[in-house]
This record gives sequence, C-alpha cells and structure tokens, in this order.
Amino acid sequence: MEIEIFELERRQSLWENTVEYNLTESGFHPYKLKELLSKNQILELQDLQLGYGQTNGSIELRETIAKLYKNINLNNILLTNGSAEANFIAMWSLLEPNDEIVLMLPNYMQIWGIAKSFAVDVKPINLKQNLDWGMDIEELKNIVSKKTMMIVLCNPNNPTGSILTLDQMNDIIEIASEVGAWIYVDEIYRGAELDGREIPSFIGMYDKVIVTGGLSKAYGLPGLRIGWLIGPEIEIEKAWAYHDYTSISTGLISQKIANWVLQPEKRPELLNRNRSMLKENVQVMEKWIKKHQNKLSFVPPKAGGMAFIQYNININSTELTKRLKNEKSTLIVAGDCFGMDNYLRIGLGSEKEYLLAGLNRIEEIIEEY
Ligand SMILES: Cc1ncc(COP(=O)(O)O)c(C=O)c1O
Repeated sequence: MEIEIFELERRQSLWENTVEYNLTESGFHPYKLKELLSKNQILELQDLQLGYGQTNGSIELRETIAKLYKNINLNNILLTNGSAEANFIAMWSLLEPNDEIVLMLPNYMQIWGIAKSFAVDVKPINLKQNLDWGMDIEELKNIVSKKTMMIVLCNPNNPTGSILTLDQMNDIIEIASEVGAWIYVDEIYRGAELDGREIPSFIGMYDKVIVTGGLSKAYGLPGLRIGWLIGPEIEIEKAWAYHDYTSISTGLISQKIANWVLQPEKRPELLNRNRSMLKENVQVMEKWIKKHQNKLSFVPPKAGGMAFIQYNININSTELTKRLKNEKSTLIVAGDCFGMDNYLRIGLGSEKEYLLAGLNRIEEIIEEY
C-alpha cells in the first residue's frame, strides 16, 4: 500500500543528529535516567526479568494512567509504543476506504498521511491565525456532514500551541453527536500548558471519544516510547488485536519507569520542570520576534514545546530551512511540512542557552533578506 513521505518526521530523522543546533524538537529537553530515578529504583531495575509482560500494558501502569482521567478503568487503556503507534492503531482499526473524516489543520501530519493511504476522504478544518489559532466553530458545522465518521483534533495543537476552550470542546461534541461521529483527540501535549492549568481531556465528555496521550512531550521522556490509547472498552479491545500485529508490547523497563514517574508525588515535578523551561523560552522567543518584527510574527503558544512563526521574506520555507542547515548547521521545521509555506516551527523545549545560540544562527540568514 502506497504512503506519502511523512516529511516532518523524515527531515528530522535525516538531519537532527548531524547539526550543531537542532530546534526541530517539539517536546522538552529529555531527562537523563539518573535525574529521574532514585538509587533504589535503579537497583530495582537490575532485578527486572525481561519478558514480554502483558501485551496491552501492565496492570499497575494502566491503573496508574486510569487515575489521570475521569470515569475510566484499566480496560479502557491500551499501552503503545509512543503516541505514534496509538494513532496508527486507532486509525487502522477504525477507518475503512471511502470513509470521511474532518481533520484539524495544521497538525502533526501523521493521521493526515495514514488516512490518505487508507483511501479515506480527509476534509480539513483550518485553525485561524486571526483567532489566535482558534477554531471557527461555524465553519466546522458547515464541514461536518452525515458522511463524517470522525472529527480528528490535536489539543493542545502541534504546531501552533493553541488550546480549545471548554465551550469549543462542548460545541465540537454537539456537532459530532448530531451526526453520530467519533471524536479522536491527540492529547499528547496535555500537561504542557504555560499557565500551569491542565486542560480537560475529552474523555468522559462524550461516548464516542478516543484519545491518545503519552510521555514524549509534556514529560520530556520520548526515549521511553510510552504512549496510550483510551476509549470505550470495546474499541480498545479491538485496537489491542491490531497491536498484536504491530509491536506486540511495549518495553518492560519503560513501563516500570513510566509507572514511577506518573505517581502523584512525582508527576508534578516533571511537568513543572518542563513548563518553567517553556515559560522562559517563550519570553526569549517574544523578544527575538520583536527584534525582527518587520519580518517575523507569531501568536505565542498557550501550551506545548514550540513556536509557529510567520515570515514575510521572499524565500520558500523548505529552501530557507535548507540554507539554515547547510550554512549554519541549524535545523528547524519548514511550514511546507504542514502544507503552510511562509511559516517555520521552532522548538522551545531546549535549554535557554542552546535556544539562544540557535536563534543567533537563524538571525544571520534572516538578516540577509
Ligand atoms: C501531536 C503529536 N502526536 C504524536 C506524536 C508522536 O509521539 P510519540 O513520540 O509519543 O510517538 C508527536 C511527535 O512529535 C506529536 O507531535
């Protein structure tokens, strides 16, 4: 089956380890194991027997995750290798050729690519910069029809860092319920809100909701490859059967660590560390944009680890990012990866000095125009 290149991931994979400044990351500077775990926990890991474990995720970890949501239990959860696998399995198990979905754009383009390869009809609902990257609910009403089987959201949004208000969430639910559509929400950036107030999950707000979450972004632990899919028991059991065909299970070491970091006494420590990094870097970015305000503008993100920047210099975004990579050894994401030329995505989750150094390199090119 044909699938189009996932440009966002491919460009990162090709270059992120060879440049001096990689500002493509949309998550936070990852933890080292020794920063995360106590000596006793490290000793406990040495005693771990490296079997497959329970393939839908250990009971203790799913019970811990269930406590992070309202009115669910461990049977509503499938543990996956990152949220990427959760997204893939969900789409594979739910979608049929010629189905119609309505997809929030811009977005992490994984579901866009998967749905197209499954011959699904993808109808975009574009977030609006003049609404601070909010959604025009009237427009959504006009796009959703009786044919719509699913509305796909990313909340908080990658790449804009915008957040749906509670009213908008309720409006979207009303629109979906009128036609009996599913709502699928990638909530991987929940927990990375700048104001420290965790946004509500769609889980528990409507029967036909499936969400994904994971440790790669708000928690700064992408290397653990821990994600999860949450939804009605019957859908999760079905997804589990698909998971048997992809990776069988997630790593036991990762599951053990995930269970430790998601405990109520540990979890806030990780989220607060990452939010304060984000707060500091948003200020750095605001200052930098102001300095170049005749060429650059952005709506400051409300969550997540990135800034989505509009530029008005005369160069295509892929060309601009190529110049940056080749001449300045600095990698950022071209708006083209989201189908939006004249935009750039710059990661805000790194250490401040690193971000500043990368921005200096970008500035050297921008000033030539
Ligand atoms: C919105 C979104 N969903 C899913 C993923 C994949 O995350 P994971 O590393 O958990 O597979 C990403 C990665 O950038 C993302 O931005």
